[in-house]
Amino acid sequence: MRIIHNLDEMTETARGWLAGGSVGFVPTMGYLHEGHLSLIRAAQQECEISIAGIFVNPLQFERSEDLARYPHDPERDLQLLSTAGVDVVFIPRAEDIYPSDFSTFVVPSAPLTGRPKGVNAQVYIRGVATVMTKLFQLVRPDLAYFGQKDAHQVAVVRRLVRDLNIDIGLRILPTVRESDGLAMSSRNHLLLPAERQAANILYRALMAGKALIDGGERRSSVIENAMRDMVATELLASLDYTAVCHPDTLSELQEVMPRTLLTIGVRIGATYLVDNFVWLGDRHWQM
Ligand code: PAJ
Repeated sequence: MRIIHNLDEMTETARGWLAGGSVGFVPTMGYLHEGHLSLIRAAQQECEISIAGIFVNPLQFERSEDLARYPHDPERDLQLLSTAGVDVVFIPRAEDIYPSDFSTFVVPSAPLTGRPKGVNAQVYIRGVATVMTKLFQLVRPDLAYFGQKDAHQVAVVRRLVRDLNIDIGLRILPTVRESDGLAMSSRNHLLLPAERQAANILYRALMAGKALIDGGERRSSVIENAMRDMVATELLASLDYTAVCHPDTLSELQEVMPRTLLTIGVRIGATYLVDNFVWLGDRHWQM
């Protein structure tokens, strides 16, 4: 497994990709779990060369405390990636990605920047769009793999590659969950034991929304209220947002229709978690 830190070395390597066959890229912020590994396996199945990125992007954190708390263990990550059989790992340094006079940002416009990612939507969205533009330029993959878990990110990256004519195919994979329904996340490791027990409230709230839709309810306000009421039953949880919206535009819908995104953001203690389900129509769900 080849490990690349240097940006020039990454660019040089990417120039030689054509000879080796198709390249699948899995960008991550490290502290890897089964959700990340599912993306890696998909990249390996579909492409000749697999490359994982590990970069905790400071630009997408609104609060410096959240950035400082973000878990990391590069040695364990490299061990997992090597065992998985990844060909290349790209681990750039923050000072190389963002030199002190860095001044060009990629800023999506509304509704992608507004709800439903709560108060920090604008910072997060600008951070993701900017870093992904840079990583796509550096790595130059044929395909890039993302998890449905971060539905807002998926909408932003889809729009980014379309609007800026970035010639990269996107693959979006289902959310990998713990046995109690909690979506796997590097942030789950920050939860205290009681908080970890409380954390499946996101899943339970989404299930409450799903039950209403499966029962024929179509009014978004009723579905959002049910999700909100469910979160209120959990003392350790404080709701940031629930939303019923279109998965591509993120604009809020008055009524659910086939392909509707139910999304939720909750703080459990000091840890911010997100999750979502997509209703595809009839009894079909992506969750
Ligand atoms: P990170 O949270 O490390 O996630 C990396 C990728 O793994 C993302 O595409 C995310 O959606 C996916 N993922 C996380 N948890 C998952 C789960 N339980 N099941 C399936 N996929 C899951 O998302 C980021 O990093 C960053 O924003 C990044 C794209 C790297 C840009 O900085």
